[in-house]
Amino acid sequence: MIRAVITGTGSALPARRVSNAQLAETVDTTDEWIVERTGIKFRHIAGPDETTATLAADAARAAIAAAGCTAQDIDLIVLATATPDQTFPSSATKVQAMLGIDDAVAFDVAAVCSGFLYAVQVADSMIRAGSARRALVIGSETFSRILDWEDRATCVLFGDGAGAIVLEGQESAGAPDDRGILAVRLHADGRHNGLLYVDGGPSTTGTVGKLRMKGREVFRHAVTNLATVLSETMAVAGLDASAIDWLVPHQANARILDATAKKLGLSPDKVVVTVDSHANTSAASVPLALDTAVRDGRITRGDLIVLEAMGGGFTWGAAVARF
Ligand SMILES: CC(C)(COP(=O)(O)OP(=O)(O)OC[C@H]1O[C@@H](n2cnc3c(N)ncnc32)[C@H](O)[C@@H]1OP(=O)(O)O)[C@@H](O)C(=O)NCCC(=O)NCCS
Repeated sequence: MIRAVITGTGSALPARRVSNAQLAETVDTTDEWIVERTGIKFRHIAGPDETTATLAADAARAAIAAAGCTAQDIDLIVLATATPDQTFPSSATKVQAMLGIDDAVAFDVAAVCSGFLYAVQVADSMIRAGSARRALVIGSETFSRILDWEDRATCVLFGDGAGAIVLEGQESAGAPDDRGILAVRLHADGRHNGLLYVDGGPSTTGTVGKLRMKGREVFRHAVTNLATVLSETMAVAGLDASAIDWLVPHQANARILDATAKKLGLSPDKVVVTVDSHANTSAASVPLALDTAVRDGRITRGDLIVLEAMGGGFTWGAAVARF
């Protein structure tokens, strides 16, 4: 059988890093409030020359170098984003051009903070079906451009950035110890549109719009949905939670991370946490956290890693992989 193996990871952050104290100079908030409610201390904010596509291309270059292949070896680009450079064409095709890839399948996936999990599922399916051999799966966002900087309940929570992986089809005996994506489960429930959304769009207002969120309700749904999908995905993989080496969660809020780990009975030292330094980077947060833990030596080859995310829609999902 063919399995999609993660052969490289990469990430990119805008040059400008903004602390809570810096934010408090223009927003009616405090470092204490943000740290206590969210665990966030810093976020990166894109400058005029940094866009979703440029950050994605930088993350992709790093992932390609780590995978030991070349850009021309890539035949599929799936880019998860809710903040594309243009309404169309896709930011994935911009990344393709930036990387100098002559021919590939390239498209964006919109599932907001769960976008990277959705993109992994699509790439994994295409690789196992034989329609791609080596995929770039990217999450990249510039949420700073859709934040209402007058709304302190949302603008302090988000940051910009990008993360990428190279997924490569490899022959496998199909055992749980063999490398590759072992299971992915995705969900959506569109009835919750009004809890987390952007109040604009090409087909409605003709404007880009700003992010709106009912934080407390999102929090409640997040903990329940994430714990359920994590157990479900581990069951599909035929593994018990005790087999998890590293949980790489969507970095929305330190309290959601703690509550989810507790529900799973996972020790906090098996959870990769980057929300303190990146804030919530939506579709970029999982691959950014993954790359951080790979580069600092925590995640090593053969580890069982579990990725999870939940976001606007609502959408949510989890993936289990042998790294
Ligand atoms: C956003 C979140 C941190 C807010 O925490 P909360 O405990 O629910 O806080 P509330 O929104 O009820 O606000 C409590 C108080 O803090 C105030 N407040 C809100 N944002 C603030 C800020 N940045 N600084 C200071 N005070 C703030 C509110 O005005 C409110 O004051 P009041 O009681 O005088 O009216 C929390 O709801 C959360 O993390 N939700 C999940 C969000 C998320 O992860 N979304 C992304 C999913 S992809």
